Amino acid sequence: MLKVQLISKSSTNRFQTSFTKLILCNAKMNVKACSMTTVFILLIGAVTVLYCSFWALQEVFATDKLLRFLTNASRLFDTSWEDETYVPLMSRHRRRFLMWYFARPDIASLIGPDTGAEATQYVIYRCDTGRMSTCGGWADRIKGMMTAYIIANLTGRNFKVELLAKGCDITEYLIPNLVDWRLPVSFHKSLQKLPNDTGIINFMNQRFANFSELNLTSLTGAERFVYFKTNTFHVDLFKSAILFEHELSWMRSLTHDQVTATVYKRLFVLHPRLQVKLQSFLFRTVPTPQHKLVCVHVRMGQNPTIPRDSEIRNSPENLFRVWEFIEEQSKTDFHKVFIMADSMQTIDEAGNQSFKSRIVENPGPIIHVERYPHEATKSDICQAEDKIVFDQHVLMNCDILMISYSGLSQMAAFVRGSDHGLYCLLRNGTIVPCTTENILTVYNQG
Ligand SMILES: *[C@@H]1O[C@H](CO)[C@@H](O)[C@H](O)[C@H]1NC(C)=O
Ligand SMILES: *[C@@H]1O[C@H](CO)[C@@H](O)[C@H](O)[C@H]1NC(C)=O
Ligand SMILES: *[C@@H]1O[C@H](CO)[C@@H](O)[C@H](O)[C@H]1NC(C)=O
Ligand SMILES: *[C@@H]1O[C@H](CO)[C@@H](O)[C@H](O)[C@H]1NC(C)=O
Ligand SMILES: *[C@@H]1O[C@H](CO)[C@@H](O)[C@H](O)[C@H]1NC(C)=O
Ligand SMILES: *[C@@H]1O[C@H](CO)[C@@H](O)[C@H](O)[C@H]1NC(C)=O
Ligand SMILES: *[C@@H]1O[C@H](CO)[C@@H](O)[C@H](O)[C@H]1NC(C)=O
Repeated sequence: MLKVQLISKSSTNRFQTSFTKLILCNAKMNVKACSMTTVFILLIGAVTVLYCSFWALQEVFATDKLLRFLTNASRLFDTSWEDETYVPLMSRHRRRFLMWYFARPDIASLIGPDTGAEATQYVIYRCDTGRMSTCGGWADRIKGMMTAYIIANLTGRNFKVELLAKGCDITEYLIPNLVDWRLPVSFHKSLQKLPNDTGIINFMNQRFANFSELNLTSLTGAERFVYFKTNTFHVDLFKSAILFEHELSWMRSLTHDQVTATVYKRLFVLHPRLQVKLQSFLFRTVPTPQHKLVCVHVRMGQNPTIPRDSEIRNSPENLFRVWEFIEEQSKTDFHKVFIMADSMQTIDEAGNQSFKSRIVENPGPIIHVERYPHEATKSDICQAEDKIVFDQHVLMNCDILMISYSGLSQMAAFVRGSDHGLYCLLRNGTIVPCTTENILTVYNQG
């Protein structure tokens, strides 16, 4: 103990002596008396400190400006902000993502006004633990909401959304963009005993085989409240609807992926809390257009992390192909690697690869929003939901994006809206270039 103190004391003394000497010699301007090396080192040190603080401060100011900007909700839709100095600093994908807000008038004018915005009859997308249970994963739910919205509009009804199972509030993650689909107070806490002004339409795992001739008005009936559930969003069927040729004419000039992205953006936008988190994540990890974000979504389906998933979608034996793909796509330290996965094993294995130092992570639990373990608490599930929505929106910002046989990353690719750097991981582990338009064909979902 004493020895240690002595050593430290003597070294402190030595430092003090040389420091005093330096000050003195500088004061006297007697260069010869000084150690030239010390002066040199100090000079280098001073320049480095100045240089670093300049950049650090610049970054702090830019981040601060961006955060202040993004937390001001009224500015999100202000078109003048594209001139802001930091926007040209972004890659085209991240820039396009921010156009989500910027393009609001375009989205609004492309599609006519909602017919049922003021109506007292409703189509309500509902997921609960009773009659409306088993709604599928996050992407299934989003697709169901989008279909419910189209049907509400075609029948002149008001569109609302209720996710009641395990009580995570969707508006903590996504908020309305152009359509106010929030329903803070249920019209019916339970649907076990169906009131006579209430109907239920359940289209889970069903195609509207006869949609082109389906009379939606007679389908929804005269009931004031129609609770609706499906896990599909079939643009080709909407496009073929003879009875609604005029109402859905806006789709005709668009491809199915563009229609999907347009409806998604019309209904939803990230909650400002997640938006701020996302922008600062991107700012930290890929601050310049020279930086590339290389992303993969690996959906295994049933695996030890999600043992209750309904099907196996890929095999761990194929993971080496994903790692090879990432290695090929991320050759320099300007490349950052983001991995969204439904299996902890995948994440752990990624941490063992040659690109491990380039991985940028969004930590959090991996839990399927429907097929969660029995012991999962509400807080676990909500954290997992938070992570799913955040990760999915990171994917929309990637320079290279490899998607899986999964609605989550397919939707991300549609909203990202570019074929550039887009790849599909097939179910046999092969990775092929794909386009937003041929994704469904690639996975035989067309
Ligand atoms: C928020 O944005 C509005 C509209 O651009 C602007 O007038 C206002 O000053 C901003 N508020 C803050 C706190 O930056
Ligand atoms: C809703 O219906 C109106 C009127 O028919 C139509 O102009 C508009 O494009 C429809 N919106 C959607 C999302 O289909
Ligand atoms: C529906 O139920 C209410 C009471 O719950 C009753 O007053 C009304 O007559 C019923 N309407 C029809 C059409 O059965
Ligand atoms: C269309 O299909 C739905 C569900 O499959 C069915 O309930 C309905 O009766 C059919 N309508 C027509 C006009 O065939
Ligand atoms: C659709 O059904 C409603 C109510 O059943 C009916 O009034 C309407 O005429 C039908 N529309 C067509 C085009 O058949
Ligand atoms: C990581 O690599 C080490 C050494 O090759 C191996 O022992 C370990 O099992 C690997 N871990 C994973 C999760 O693949
Ligand atoms: C995987 O499937 C694709 C398309 O079905 C096929 O072209 C490819 O050869 C398959 N790859 C392997 C390794 O089986």
